[in-house]
Amino acid sequence: MEWGKNIIDSLKWSDTIINREGKEKVAKEIAAKMKDGQIIGVGSGSTVYLALIAITERIEKENLHIQVIPSSLEILMTCIQLRIPQTTLLDKKPDWTFDGADEVDPQRSLIKGRGGAMFKEKLLIRNSTETYIIVDESKFVAQLGSKFPVPVEVFPTSLLYAEKELIALGARDVSLRMAKGKDGPVITENGNFILDAWFDSIKNSFERDIKSITGVIESGLFIGYDVEIMSI
Ligand code: 5RP
Repeated sequence: MEWGKNIIDSLKWSDTIINREGKEKVAKEIAAKMKDGQIIGVGSGSTVYLALIAITERIEKENLHIQVIPSSLEILMTCIQLRIPQTTLLDKKPDWTFDGADEVDPQRSLIKGRGGAMFKEKLLIRNSTETYIIVDESKFVAQLGSKFPVPVEVFPTSLLYAEKELIALGARDVSLRMAKGKDGPVITENGNFILDAWFDSIKNSFERDIKSITGVIESGLFIGYDVEIMSI
């Protein structure tokens, strides 16, 4: 048996991905962008997963040589399952990156982080000159924060301080994200907690304001990034 394959292959994505058909269409468009020899940054989430499947099909059919830089352990393991070669930001810079989003406003600003991977996702986008955000139509909103809270990854012992500062910034509700079906909080792969902060309106300065709270690692706000939105 190949080292580690059994345990990695036992990891499964849900069979019930919301709006799978729409997501598959944009996933195919992303795969069509890939050129032989490229380094590609890969965000997280179910749309990204479907894009990786489409990418694998092209790699196998056309014998392409590409490397990906995954933004989370979940996506890293998916790449291992699909046998897509990986590298890291310590070794290579991506030619381009693709990722999903939870909300996209008319100015192309985003809320991300339902999967809690926004720190490494942002790092990838910051390192890329071209970024494609792949979304189905359900992700478009007139105003950020209308459907989802802003996720904020915080160092564990700064939890209460960060909560107080988010409220001082105008959050009407802040909650600790809990693990589904478990009693404990979500622990990110960086060993931190996630606070979900609801705001009535989100100012452009909030990404910077939240980041400046001591103990905040990163937030899921992506305001004014040079990204191309790809939708169906
Ligand atoms: C994870 C993310 C995802 O990109 C976002 O949650 C969208 O996920 P999906 O494609 O499953 O709808 O930011 O941290």
